[in-house]
Amino acid sequence: MFKINANYLKLPGSYLFSDIAKRVKAFTEENPDKKIIRLGIGDVTLPLAPAVIEALHRATDEMGVKETFKGYSPDLGYEFLRTAIAENDYKTRGVTIAVDEIFISDGAKSDSGNIGDIFDIDNKIAVCDPVYPVYVDSNAMAGRTGEYLPALGKWSNVIYMPCTEETDFAPELPGEEPDIIYLCFPNNPTGSTIKKAELQKWVDYANKTGAVIIYDAAYEAYISEEDVPHSIYECEGAKTCAIELRSFSKNAGFTGTRLAFTVIPKELKSGEVMLNSLWARRHGTKFNGAPYIVQKAGAAVYTQEGRKQTGEQIAYYMNNAKIIREGLTAAGYDVSGGVNAPYIWLKTPGKMTSWEFFDYLLREANVVGTPGSGFGPHGEGYFRLTAFGTYENTLEAIERIKKL
Ligand code: MLT
Repeated sequence: MFKINANYLKLPGSYLFSDIAKRVKAFTEENPDKKIIRLGIGDVTLPLAPAVIEALHRATDEMGVKETFKGYSPDLGYEFLRTAIAENDYKTRGVTIAVDEIFISDGAKSDSGNIGDIFDIDNKIAVCDPVYPVYVDSNAMAGRTGEYLPALGKWSNVIYMPCTEETDFAPELPGEEPDIIYLCFPNNPTGSTIKKAELQKWVDYANKTGAVIIYDAAYEAYISEEDVPHSIYECEGAKTCAIELRSFSKNAGFTGTRLAFTVIPKELKSGEVMLNSLWARRHGTKFNGAPYIVQKAGAAVYTQEGRKQTGEQIAYYMNNAKIIREGLTAAGYDVSGGVNAPYIWLKTPGKMTSWEFFDYLLREANVVGTPGSGFGPHGEGYFRLTAFGTYENTLEAIERIKKL
């Protein structure tokens, strides 16, 4: 008789953004006349850049012609895209990444959920608290996190690294030694970042203790300040301890188009075994490559027009971030983030819990955000707003919140 993966039964509730969508749906059904503004999930609202659309059209036409038709793409990604990434994302920052250290995929969410496949079950993970829920949930599904402790909102076998106001929402090196460390900068959900010298401490720590860092840099295009690293490989020694996840979702609006990549340097080893080879094996076995037309669209992001157009999109969202940050600050809210990231992290007023504030904001202002507690216990009493809405909706949402 078949048996299920009982680890799934330990997971509390449903995925955070599915929970939110259900609540919003119920509210909309009860209040069909209300105009809801969604600043919850970090989903883009601007259409794809013209350079990307042109590339999609051209590639689609190629698929309709016998001579240029493509079947399965190379399982690790087309060389043209991997070369563009190595040149533009790394070489320009003084980092040498070889083409065969880059693995093209259909999303950083899938990569961050799947990367655990190449690690033994007997590894202890460390995560920031609050944290993007995929890191923890995917490890829980694999059976790596122990038991869920509802009273604490934590797993028994996970090292939580509190990111609080006192630490500028950055984690401190953990007391207990983890095997796998998840870091995300610019951070989702708090919008915080760390300077290069700080990140270097993590790299040195991982190299010293033999830990691996899974570095999620999906929001690097939003960095506006100097001395904030765009890649962990800007730090000395990172190639022997870090895997980097990148995405086209937030820097080029591919949330619905799906394209991302993971970098695993060949120097990153467990004994004599290269993690690069393990991931190549996993990728080749379980993935048939991102679509050709989407990879062509991704390559167009690196053209001169592509860079200019996607740069303008980022500036548009960061203007929204400024509107939210300044508007909420003027209204007396305690606000952070939104300078190097498209997320604004605010303290709930009047000691409301995160979910109380979610309901209050939905009911009174018809604005949807994300409750901080959904990202971990230290997110309680906080709330996340995204800058990915339209300019008009962002302005209106802030006006409505100001009037509360
Ligand atoms: C978020 O809202 O945290 C993100 O959109 C989730 C994601 O990128 O998967």
